Amino acid sequence: MKKTILVTGCNRGIGFCLIQKLIKDVNNIVIGTTRSNTSALSDLKEANHDRLHIIEMDVGIEKSITDAFLKISNLSTSLDVLINNAGYAPDKTKKGENVSRSDMMDAFEINTLGPLLVIQQSLPLLRNGLMKKIINISSLLGSHAMNPGRQIAYSTAKCALGMITSVFAKELESEGFAIVAVHPGTVATDMRPDLKLPGAMPHIQPEESADGILNNAVFTKENLNGRFITWNGETMAW
Ligand SMILES: NC(=O)c1ccc[n+]([C@@H]2O[C@H](COP(=O)([O-])OP(=O)(O)OC[C@H]3O[C@@H](n4cnc5c(N)ncnc54)[C@H](OP(=O)(O)O)[C@@H]3O)[C@@H](O)[C@H]2O)c1
Repeated sequence: MKKTILVTGCNRGIGFCLIQKLIKDVNNIVIGTTRSNTSALSDLKEANHDRLHIIEMDVGIEKSITDAFLKISNLSTSLDVLINNAGYAPDKTKKGENVSRSDMMDAFEINTLGPLLVIQQSLPLLRNGLMKKIINISSLLGSHAMNPGRQIAYSTAKCALGMITSVFAKELESEGFAIVAVHPGTVATDMRPDLKLPGAMPHIQPEESADGILNNAVFTKENLNGRFITWNGETMAW
């Protein structure tokens, strides 16, 4: 079955690994969005120009999202899966008492509002698709139960993304949608430079995270609507 899959934030990290793996299946049409290019992304595009489409989109700017969807709608009348992957942690070293208003707003715009607006724009296309799946890449830091007590801006924004997942899951259940929040693991990407240092805490590589997200959230037959899971398929407490 031919499938059309949209991934945000595809130029590096987990998003890049997701599109790299998805494009290997000749039945997949992949639309990746990015706000900046990388040589790895250009090379992947060149090798797969017929099935990989790269669209510019800054998820923190509403007009950039609507402009991107004009282009996406010209490419395809339907989408099977949306993976809201783009994310940003502005407050890695700050405690709650030092966090600034702009850190809170930046975290919210990119991790919460961006995915919400992308879902809104994707819905008409997803309704024409067969899989009707929305994967919101969240974080352990967005879980009340697992919260290690740090990065208040990022944690709050990812927690709110969890509620967006729950509300859409209820609103769209009768239409056969599955909306799922996924913690991708503790992953050695640019977001976590500390994991590249000697003696770093246990972690995984972005390839393993992407494999897990695809196997356990995107292509699983299990009905995960409204659930919060980890990349390796375990239930994550909200
Ligand atoms: N790494 C981890 O341990 C970990 C753990 C939990 C959750 N996550 C989540 O996993 C997802 C992927 O993160 P990653 O680890 O792969 O991090 P990453 O390597 O830092 O990649 C982040 C991606 O998001 C994009 N992005 C950031 N702000 C954007 C904006 N305003 N508009 C469009 N794209 C934007 C980046 O694009 P640019 O290159 O243009 O900045 C990049 O493609 C994120 O949602 C993150 O919160 C990661």
